[in-house]
Amino acid sequence: MVEQIIQDIKQQGWSYLEGVLDASFLSTLSILYADNFVPAMVGKASERQRMEEIRGDLTFWLDPLNPPSQLRELIHLLNELKQHLNQHLYLGLKDFECHLAKYPIGSFYKKHLDRFETNASRSLSFIFYLHEEWNDKDGGELILYNQKHEIIKKILPKPGSFIIFLSEEFPHEVKPCFRERRSLTGWMHTKILN
Ligand code: OGA
Ligand code: MN
Repeated sequence: MVEQIIQDIKQQGWSYLEGVLDASFLSTLSILYADNFVPAMVGKASERQRMEEIRGDLTFWLDPLNPPSQLRELIHLLNELKQHLNQHLYLGLKDFECHLAKYPIGSFYKKHLDRFETNASRSLSFIFYLHEEWNDKDGGELILYNQKHEIIKKILPKPGSFIIFLSEEFPHEVKPCFRERRSLTGWMHTKILN
């Protein structure tokens, strides 16, 4: 898995892998989706606000040093991935942050970049899809664009799949979902977060 990710990022700046998490693992996570989620916000610190016409997901931020027990192994895997990426791609990654996200039926996230002034240390964006079922008709595709805003990849969020991409280079959007869409989304940073 790691070799493929490194090779893909070197060649094209992103990597998408299916079947990274298995169904039995995904079935242990539904309890995490019972509560504690808050509406995601858009905008910079002082101007943060809810704008459902931009993004309609709900998030639950995780403490990577003290994650829910079900996610401990996955967080460990992310730490190892960070080290491998540093060894092979010299990205100088120091830390990562992540949240669980859920997109209620009908919600979406309009085209955006994950890296902007207030998030200048975001280097890589990654997402694991955690719902247990997803079909073509459920929508919710992740659309990746290049810097000319041409579509380069449409990803149906298959359960257990994984995507990672350079935060600065790929505008992306989440199409409207017709089933509750669940993920763990995070960012690897070139500085230590506090
Ligand atoms: C994000 C995002 C994409 C996805 O949370 O910034 O773009 O596929 N998520 O969930
Ligand atoms: Mn994003």
